[in-house]
Amino acid sequence: MISSAHSTTVDQPPVIEARGVTVAYANGHVALRDASFSLGGGTICGLVGINGSGKSTLFKAIMGFVVPAAGSVLIDGAPVAKAHRRAKVAYVPQSEDVDWSFPVSVWDVALMGRYGSMGFLRIARAEDKRLAMQALEQVGVADLRNRQIGELSGGQRKRVFLARALAQGARIILLDEPFTGVDVRTEAAIIALLERLRSDGCTVLVSTHNLGSVPRFCDRVVIINRTVLAAGPTATTFTRDNLAMAFGGALRRLRVDHTDIPGASCNELTVLTDDENALIMGDDGLPAANEPLQGEGDGAGRGVRR
Ligand SMILES: Nc1ncnc2c1ncn2[C@@H]1O[C@H](COP(=O)(O)OP(=O)(O)O)[C@@H](O)[C@H]1O
Ligand SMILES: [Mg+2]
Repeated sequence: MISSAHSTTVDQPPVIEARGVTVAYANGHVALRDASFSLGGGTICGLVGINGSGKSTLFKAIMGFVVPAAGSVLIDGAPVAKAHRRAKVAYVPQSEDVDWSFPVSVWDVALMGRYGSMGFLRIARAEDKRLAMQALEQVGVADLRNRQIGELSGGQRKRVFLARALAQGARIILLDEPFTGVDVRTEAAIIALLERLRSDGCTVLVSTHNLGSVPRFCDRVVIINRTVLAAGPTATTFTRDNLAMAFGGALRRLRVDHTDIPGASCNELTVLTDDENALIMGDDGLPAANEPLQGEGDGAGRGVRR
């Protein structure tokens, strides 16, 4: 039998492992308590949860920006500090965590991806410049390289930070809300890029509350609300019950009948949404539509009743 490209070798440690991670901020707020999950290589994992559920905190714990009060994060079986010394992990922060007034050009940001490989004085070699340029080209913003980062649109900014991550050449890539504030074309381009990274064997952890896109490109899901509520393959984890547990009253539930939604196997569907990109599920509780729902004007599809 041909083994799956996404399987992991049994004797290798997980690429990312959180073991009972508890994070408390200085004001005493416990953002995460006893959070555990593990991820292998060649995976795109969706990190799903409502606002304030601890998604960004989990990224910061993996990056070593916050130190857990209890538990630990391991990268390839070793403490995070070791991985970061080797620039093993690339991180695309959520827009709210970036100071957009900082005077830095698109080119400077892409070159930052190479800092880990440069010496103490951070003098870029020809190879660093080549990789930074290649990364900007890969995400389609090479022509913007002399612009200041603060002058760009939300989608362009996301692409530039993605270029920084690509220039780093890391095998582990964390993206915090990459689809927030970007147009659908940029979202599709980012997803295509992540899929290419996965087929190269990279591990991608991507937070989103864009539920509709999760089953389209994530092979695994971690669902959190101040702890890990569920983690595993998308097919068995991204279920109506788990989402109801994580999102509670934050989700609107609509019923749709007489649909012609691609992939729908029944006439009644459940639409779960906390925003415009709805998740369509059949009566069996499985994702029904593999493509965005084409609505007539309202973006929510036909025959919707509450
Ligand atoms: N620096 C901080 N100090 C105190 N509380 C914080 C800090 N950063 C985040 N929080 C709180 O921790 C919780 C989780 O935040 P966060 O990880 O940003 O959630 P998410 O990314 O899922 O929206 C929220 O209640 C938030 O207000
Ligand atoms: Mg966040």
